[in-house]
Amino acid sequence: MTTPVGERDFRRAMGTFATGVGVVTCVSDGQDHAMTANAIASVSLLPPLLLVAVDRATRFWEAVTQQQFWAVSVLAHGGRDSAAWLATSGRPLQGQLDRVPHRRSERGIALLDQSLAWLECRTHQTVSAGDHDILIGQVERVTQGPDGDALVYWRSGYRHLPDVTA
Ligand SMILES: Cc1cc2nc3c(=O)[nH]c(=O)nc-3n(C[C@H](O)[C@H](O)[C@H](O)COP(=O)(O)O)c2cc1C
Repeated sequence: MTTPVGERDFRRAMGTFATGVGVVTCVSDGQDHAMTANAIASVSLLPPLLLVAVDRATRFWEAVTQQQFWAVSVLAHGGRDSAAWLATSGRPLQGQLDRVPHRRSERGIALLDQSLAWLECRTHQTVSAGDHDILIGQVERVTQGPDGDALVYWRSGYRHLPDVTA
């Protein structure tokens, strides 16, 4: 029989897998919702699908499962403070984007300024997996931002990935 894997060991091992950092946004009942996420991956090219694994304990999960439109802002290194803020549990929802520079998509969803790209999605499928839901979105619109350094998450910390080839 195999030994059960502890949460700490699992987090630590997965923390060696460097990722970008995104902020997922939506509007539900007229309220902006936003959550920092790194469990983001591309799923399919035709049609263009991406996934975000969303913890069912978050307020973002409650909001995003109420309606079908949401967006991912892929953060540039300058978006680090916004990432930290939008990962703070218990922050007030009202006015949470006041200190986060952003514009609005045609559907009225916040798109963060300090980003390398924006992907606007419509929910395609939701798959329940453990304590998260895998939210799969059909990408309806993609916008590229300016070139710039990436914000990376690795070993439980934010890192700066300069836009230079090794
Ligand atoms: C770098 C980083 C990545 C994260 N990625 C995810 C993720 O992919 N999915 C998720 O559900 N929570 C993720 N979180 C945790 C949420 O950002 C955090 O629980 C947030 O406070 C949820 O906010 P809410 O409850 O106000 O919706 C991440 C946190 C950090 C710092």
